[in-house]
Amino acid sequence: MDVPSLQWRSSYESGHAAIDGQHRHLFALGRKLVDEVAANRPVGALVEVLSRNLVAHFEAEERLLAEAGFPGTVEHAREHARIVRDVRQLGARMAENPTLSSDAVEKLVFGVIAAHVLGSDPMFFHYLRARA
Ligand SMILES: [Fe+2]
Ligand SMILES: [Fe+2]
Repeated sequence: MDVPSLQWRSSYESGHAAIDGQHRHLFALGRKLVDEVAANRPVGALVEVLSRNLVAHFEAEERLLAEAGFPGTVEHAREHARIVRDVRQLGARMAENPTLSSDAVEKLVFGVIAAHVLGSDPMFFHYLRARA
């Protein structure tokens, strides 16, 4: 996959208003995090906010998928758990070393979060649309 853009596009939408609003907000937080790190500003609090928003979003999404009977719910939830673990690990590393390289942050935001929203989530978009 190409490096995903953090600029929200209408083509990223699932058609489910709550999920789309959460995704858009996560992208905005991701953009802010990348910008703050590039500007050498401390981002511990922002990583914490991102982590909380991710957990809340993943819980909402997993509930929706389970209720809809999406066949890939368990595997999807596993991917969510891996992402939360990665974000928490980054937060812990930042607590020890606040001047962490922007590479690690960009890898997490682009390679993990955006890649999940743009690569894995669309697998259930079609399923939900077909049931709507
Ligand atoms: Fe999602
Ligand atoms: Fe997801």
